Order: sequence, then structure tokens, then C-alpha cells
Amino acid sequence: MPIAHQSNKAVLTHPSGASAEVYLYGATLTSWKVANKERIFLSEKAILDGSKAIRGGIPLVFPVFGKGRAPHITAALPQHGFARISLWKLLNSSDDTHTVTAEFGLDHTLISEEYRKLWPFDFSLVYTVKLAAETIETQLRVHNIGDKSFDFNTLLHTYFLIPDASKVKVVGLSGVDYVDKVLQTSAHQQGDVVIRGEVDRVYANLKSTNFQVPYVAEQGGVQLQLKGLGDVVVWNPWTEKAAGMADFGNEEFHKMICVEAGQVAEFVALAAGDSWEGSQVLSLL
Ligand code: BG6
Repeated sequence: MPIAHQSNKAVLTHPSGASAEVYLYGATLTSWKVANKERIFLSEKAILDGSKAIRGGIPLVFPVFGKGRAPHITAALPQHGFARISLWKLLNSSDDTHTVTAEFGLDHTLISEEYRKLWPFDFSLVYTVKLAAETIETQLRVHNIGDKSFDFNTLLHTYFLIPDASKVKVVGLSGVDYVDKVLQTSAHQQGDVVIRGEVDRVYANLKSTNFQVPYVAEQGGVQLQLKGLGDVVVWNPWTEKAAGMADFGNEEFHKMICVEAGQVAEFVALAAGDSWEGSQVLSLL
């Protein structure tokens, strides 16, 4: 069966053997396997009972990146917004000869009363996951179905499972300006991004739509192709930050890198009745 609906998640299985799992909590994709190999990092300490954002996978950041800043309306929302900590609905599932597709939805009627008060807009999010033999596409559509314009940030906050963080690089960001949230400076990327300590950077106004994370010391890696997404965040917490996170093992930073595509440097302003969409296709190198 291409899609198994379980009470808390949808499991997509492609005839090639590729598979993916998406929790309804946050519509968080927690697994993508190709050739029986997991490509997505999920912390051994991740909390999967819907009481906390899932540590790993692809949490969806919406409508604010990080903590919003007063006087912007998003300032009172939780870090990275409410989409990753709300219960989504499975809207549709289908399959054809090439792809297995599941569509998840969240709107203003499904979020908590508290978030609805803090962010009083009528919206609808549709998140589509399309699994093919060697690729997976994740697409977010944002619809303003109310009569007031609203601002949002969003990210497909992808945690990749990698052999060794100090032996990967992110290719495709050379020449892009970034804000370094660790050093609290702005800088210009020269060459590929490497991880030698804590990295938390927001690359804005990308020059390419195609990024690679090669494993360097061994064959393989992953590739991202973006559509409609103008910024990329690169994050690895390294030792100290890792030790401070209750839902992340102390040594797990070696096995993950977040390459998070979205719109975060500036808010997207969505007028009443308008829609926005952005997507990424992940494939193997
Ligand atoms: C990244 C941010 O997107 O997410 C980091 O740039 C942040 O600053 C990280 O630490 C994880 O955030 P959270 O809320 O899941 O712990």
C-alpha cells in the first residue's frame, strides 16, 4: 500500500523501496529512506508525543523565524511559530506510476485559541510531500483566505543525517551575504561552507537554486533544488549548544547538519486573497 495512515503519522512507500514518514504533529517529515538508508536526522531524544516540536526531520517554520521582534505582531509567538507545534490534517493521498503523494493541511480553525488570538489571521497552509524513487519534494503553499494582509516567515527546516559534520560542506552559497547569529556579524561567504564549530547563519538573496552537501571523505551526499525560496539557514549546534538541549544527544551534532530553505531575512507580505508557494526537491549525489 503506497500510503499507510496511522493515528499519528502517514507512511509513504514507493514501489522502488523508498519511503518517508510524516507526523501529523507539525506535519514533520521524520524519515526519508532510499536504498534502505536513512537520509534525515531524527534525534534519539526527539519527543514524538506532540508535547514539543520534533527535534529533527523537517519541522515547518511558520509564521515567524526564531523569536519575533516587537513591535511586529509575531513577537508574542513561540520560537519558529506555531506550525511545527500544531496538529495538521491529512487532506489527500494519491499515487501514480512515478510518485506517492500526501497532502497535509493547517488553517486558523486548527490552531489553538491562544495562537489564534496572538495571530488573528485567516490562513490555510497546504504541505505536499511527493516521494519518487530517488527524490522527495516538499512544497508549502500559504493562502491568505481572510480580508487582512499578513506577514510571514517560513522555512523547511531540514535536518540531514550525515556521516560526519566536520567532513561535509555546503556547496552553492559562495558569494552570498549572510548574518552570522553566533558571531553577531554580517559577512560574505567565500567558497563552500564547512562546519568546524557552532554554525548558525542566515544566507539571504541566494545566487543559486541548487545546493549540495557532499560527504567529502566518502561517496555520496544530498542535493537540494529550491523553487520560490530565497534564503537558506545553515545550522549545527556543536558541543555547547548540544549539551544545552534536552531533546538532543550530546554527541549527535556530529551526525547532522541543517540546511533550511525558506524566506526568513524579510517577511513575506501576503495580501488578502493571495497565495504563495515554495518548495524543495531533495535528491542524492
Ligand atoms: C535554526 C536557528 O533555524 O533553528 C537557530 O537559526 C536555532 O538559531 C535552531 O537554534 C533550532 O531551533 P529550535 O527552536 O528548534 O531549538
